[in-house]
Amino acid sequence: MFRTHNCGTLRQKNVGEEVILAGWVKRVRNLGTVSFIDLRDHYGITQLTFYGKNTLKKKADQLGREFVIQVCGKVADRKSKNLKNPTGFIEVVVSKLRILSYSKIPPFIIEEKTDGNEDLRMKYRYLDLRRDFIKKKLITRHKIVFEIRKYLSENGFLEIETPLLVKSTPEGARDFVIPSRTNPGQFYALPQSPQSFKQLLMIGGIDKYFQIVKCFRDEDLRSDRQPEFTQIDCEMSFVEEEDVIKISENLINYIFQKIRNCRFAKSFPRISYKEAIKRYGSDKPDIRFEMIIKELNDVIPKKNNRVAGISIPGCANYSIRQLNDITEWSKLHHIRNLTWVKCLIDGKFQSPFFDQKYFKIFSDRFGAKPGDLLLILSGLDDQTVRIQLGKIRIEMADRLGLRKTNQFSPIWIVDFPLFVWNEDNKRYDSFHHPFTSPKEENIYLLKKNPEKIIAKSYDLVINGKEIGGGSIRINKRSIQESIFNLLGFSRKEIFSKFGFLMEAFEYGTPPHGGIALGLDRFVALLKGEDSIRDFIAFPKNNSYRDPMIGTPSYLSDDQLKELHIFIKR
Ligand code: AMO
Repeated sequence: MFRTHNCGTLRQKNVGEEVILAGWVKRVRNLGTVSFIDLRDHYGITQLTFYGKNTLKKKADQLGREFVIQVCGKVADRKSKNLKNPTGFIEVVVSKLRILSYSKIPPFIIEEKTDGNEDLRMKYRYLDLRRDFIKKKLITRHKIVFEIRKYLSENGFLEIETPLLVKSTPEGARDFVIPSRTNPGQFYALPQSPQSFKQLLMIGGIDKYFQIVKCFRDEDLRSDRQPEFTQIDCEMSFVEEEDVIKISENLINYIFQKIRNCRFAKSFPRISYKEAIKRYGSDKPDIRFEMIIKELNDVIPKKNNRVAGISIPGCANYSIRQLNDITEWSKLHHIRNLTWVKCLIDGKFQSPFFDQKYFKIFSDRFGAKPGDLLLILSGLDDQTVRIQLGKIRIEMADRLGLRKTNQFSPIWIVDFPLFVWNEDNKRYDSFHHPFTSPKEENIYLLKKNPEKIIAKSYDLVINGKEIGGGSIRINKRSIQESIFNLLGFSRKEIFSKFGFLMEAFEYGTPPHGGIALGLDRFVALLKGEDSIRDFIAFPKNNSYRDPMIGTPSYLSDDQLKELHIFIKR
């Protein structure tokens, strides 16, 4: 037997037992007549003790950090107990020691407080994984994935894998492509999502599908974005928006109950895209706090200008320095024409810009109380003013500590436009993706007024993060073709890119719809974190690279030739 116990299990009840342990040497402390080793494995840390001046102790004293060893010994009650460690009441007095593997001196300290910078830890990711900090995140991810699989399987969803070597699926990002050796000049694309395949599964008669699936998108990195990430992808036949929303709410509630021991109200709040921009200046509103945007155009009639503002609770006592700091922050974010009004405690107002006659109207409009600070912004168009105020709203909430990581506020954003006008290319783009169905009552607008069409789509936003998105799909070839036309695809392109789907539509396509939740984001959110990187065992860094394996990398001339790729070096 390699080990009788792991390093996290021994307790006082085991005192007197002969045990075998194996693990990594975290630390050696030689105190002269006695030496201690902290032995670490996946499960915990156990203190090993070596008494006397014998060869065994000498061998122990020479062990380096991260050596892998196996020891036999007797569990003993510890004199000075460590209450912070579950095994801190005992120690193992070692009688035999075997070195299983040597280690070079690690490039950084493998402890909670490490001296390794991000780059170094990415290069030696396998060493970073030994730290509890990352290990715990991977354990949480595993638990969540396990529960998701359980829940969906028990609710009639079938887990089906779809291919990774595919054709481009338009999800709004660039594709990662792979050259085909056997088909000179041709390329596969890695899927941005399994969108077409899950729809084909519905046409294939599968009623409810899910997959926990890797997706690949060549887009700008952010703390909540990785070029390869994982979706909880679902699709169902014979459903409407309401069904998909309900099932998603039940899944979210189930997971929150399991992981955080809390549940939300049966139905999450819903808001239209238009209303979200109007009230929060964002289609990913954080509704953990108020600060609703209020329009002031009727109060301050400025030619060609739109004016709106937000009320920040309890900030009327901000100093000039603090106010300047907000203005500076705004300028850094290309926000100009921001001004303020203080609603002072004594009922008076103070503003560098507005005179007395506005104050009463302002405080009524914002429902402001004495002590509140109003931030007022003007600009040339309504949408820009609201989106900029949306950014200020988040910044102020951050400054005031209103975005608490242990508070969760989900909201559905619905009634998105089907298209957005792309001024650069003088054509429409899909707001979500081209397979999203328009509302039935809007189909007639396809010919005359496409920008007015509302889609049957829904986004799930929790704490200001887009956790998921989905829609009811088009299941009629003629409508799908009109959409592709509006997106600027020629007939030839439609056939070469999506011919398979168009043809499939003609063989009895059930009404269907679905959703995909971003697993990495969902897990990070559940643990109250912004960045998804450490919830992924081997992520890419900010330059899209994996410095550990050194990818991307150049191919040899022979490999390139085989792939029919000719590069001028
Ligand atoms: P969508 O593009 O909205 O929808 O993606 C679904 C969810 O995936 C997550 N996500 C990401 N997470 C990490 N890194 C990224 N680069 C990244 N991109 C997206 C987000 C997002 O909400 N096929 C449709 C779904 C459908 O219509 O059913 C789709 O992929 O949390």
